[in-house]
Amino acid sequence: MFGFFDTHRRPPDVRRIAPQAATACAKIHAQSFAYPWSAADFETLLAARDVIGEAAMAAAWWGKSAELAGFILSRRVLDEAEILTIAVAPEFRRKGIGSALLGVHLATLAAQGTKALFLEVEAGNQAALALYTQFGFQQVGERQAYYRKADGPPTTALVLRRDFR
Ligand SMILES: CC(C)(COP(=O)(O)OP(=O)(O)OC[C@H]1O[C@@H](n2cnc3c(N)ncnc32)[C@H](O)[C@@H]1OP(=O)(O)O)[C@@H](O)C(=O)NCCC(=O)NCCS
Repeated sequence: MFGFFDTHRRPPDVRRIAPQAATACAKIHAQSFAYPWSAADFETLLAARDVIGEAAMAAAWWGKSAELAGFILSRRVLDEAEILTIAVAPEFRRKGIGSALLGVHLATLAAQGTKALFLEVEAGNQAALALYTQFGFQQVGERQAYYRKADGPPTTALVLRRDFR
């Protein structure tokens, strides 16, 4: 068995996650963002009734047990939702996992009656912007000096929206 996702032969296994996944989520979040959320933060979020968490699992290989390769969390309020965070572990990026996560998550939200989905993304985050554009998100706002930076001035956030029909 291969250690990587091979999206041509086998799409990644995306499943709902519970607070037990908090430590694995915090590890990937710390590898992905300058200001990481703690395992306790994820535990609280994943236990919340209005938060939906889904994760992509990397298959076990060469004696390594199955592990969480990426995750996405959204909060629902009535018929709208907001993506709180999405991240894929660096060693699993560019293998279709972000797309698989977002695709499954959109289907989950649609099945729950969501009509509009929002998110914030750093203006310079080309990888995320390309992913969101592929899934039909459009810019509806801009927040200047929104993201704190350890090594420079704060950067702009773009607000994106996707409608469900
Ligand atoms: C954004 C992120 C989730 C994408 O996950 P991924 O598993 O690498 O994405 P995929 O392999 O499914 O790629 C899907 C599309 O995203 C775009 N993309 C992904 N990585 C890219 C990169 N480094 N540069 C440019 N476009 C990129 C491409 O359009 C790609 O489609 P393609 O492969 O047909 O070209 C991942 O880069 C990540 O975790 N980044 C750090 C956390 C982050 O920035 N989250 C978003 C916060 S708003």
